[in-house]
Amino acid sequence: MIERAEQAGRIKPGDTLVEGTAGNTGIGLALVAQQKGYRLLLVVPDKMSREKIFNLKAMGAEVVLTRSDVAKGHPEYYQDLAKKIAEDTPGAYFINQFGNPDNPAAHAEFTGPEILEQMDGRMDAIVFGCGSSGTMTGLSQFLAKASPATELVLADPVGSILAQYINDGTLSQKSASWMVEGIGEDFLPSISDFSRVKKAYAISDKESFLTARLLLEKEGVLGGSSTGTLLAAALKYCRAQTTPKRVVVFVCDTGNKYLSKQFNDYWMLDNGFIERAQHGDLRDLILRPYAQRDTVVIGPHEPLTVAYQRMKLYDVSQLPVMDDERIVGILDESDLLMHVHADSARFADPVSTAMVSKLEFVDMRTPVAQLMPVFDRGHIAIVMDGPKFLGLITRIDLLNYLRRRVN
Ligand SMILES: Cc1ncc(COP(=O)(O)O)c(C=O)c1O
Repeated sequence: MIERAEQAGRIKPGDTLVEGTAGNTGIGLALVAQQKGYRLLLVVPDKMSREKIFNLKAMGAEVVLTRSDVAKGHPEYYQDLAKKIAEDTPGAYFINQFGNPDNPAAHAEFTGPEILEQMDGRMDAIVFGCGSSGTMTGLSQFLAKASPATELVLADPVGSILAQYINDGTLSQKSASWMVEGIGEDFLPSISDFSRVKKAYAISDKESFLTARLLLEKEGVLGGSSTGTLLAAALKYCRAQTTPKRVVVFVCDTGNKYLSKQFNDYWMLDNGFIERAQHGDLRDLILRPYAQRDTVVIGPHEPLTVAYQRMKLYDVSQLPVMDDERIVGILDESDLLMHVHADSARFADPVSTAMVSKLEFVDMRTPVAQLMPVFDRGHIAIVMDGPKFLGLITRIDLLNYLRRRVN
């Protein structure tokens, strides 16, 4: 897209490129922009993984985060916002992957021939997802000539409007949100040509994430979230066949970009994608049960520097202080700050000198409603079964629990 715009005399190095992207187009653009000397400004929806955003920033792109819960036509929708920023920035060029014919052209010219060659010219079906629809439209254009018998199969997240459009021919005005990144749409991109796509599968977030995890477990392939959606659809397609078929599916990006999400059990639990045995009491709200060695803890004799490093490493704001199996205190960020603010040499002091040891315990049978007064007093809930420490419940744990019940 950049090279074609250069050839057409629309841009030259030094100009500003602007794009709305779920991340990976942005990473591609950032590579080229950095090499060719363009300034790059990307508008990215806030559901995208941190890893992608860090990756973009590391390559010198300027990232504007925007809402991921609004649809096309809303001023904060990532594509609308990118277009507006491009219009308002002097000398800026809007890449517009959703409306730029050079996007599918790249796939018709390169992706399609590369795949067909690797398949020795024999390919019964190809399963893809649609974000910008560049991959699908370009492949469709290429295969129409080079391998017209190849079936085109769409893998779509539940909530997107595309699967229904393919299977029933109806265009829903309503889309819901989904967590898989890079695919699914709430409108038909102007570059899209679905005419040769006859079959679509709608795949839930849960099935997508679990399938991506299964791919790693069974085959050692670390793929991203859309990979899970595509593979789940490809498996459904294959299982519906009565004769052996040669079927291609994409691993669209690496799972390294999703280590904090689909490959993180806590994130999966938080979102209800994997389940633990439910007890019908406060144990259901404990994200990191102590009995499973999941709670991040500290000993009373360890130095505060260790407590500080541990809080940072695990991204927690408090640590239960454990003396063998007994909880003897809690150390949170403000306890630590109070202790060291006047004299940073006090980081060497033992945890016991800064922790709070007057603890308020909550029995696991306590009703959920009674957590609020604990939080109101500025505490976290220390959940006990008699003398046995079970784990902590923080405000975010309660929020996650309530959110899970809405789903
Ligand atoms: C992870 C991932 N999967 C799939 C796609 C869909 O590709 P396309 O935009 O060509 O439809 C993208 C697009 O950036 C993506 O980032």
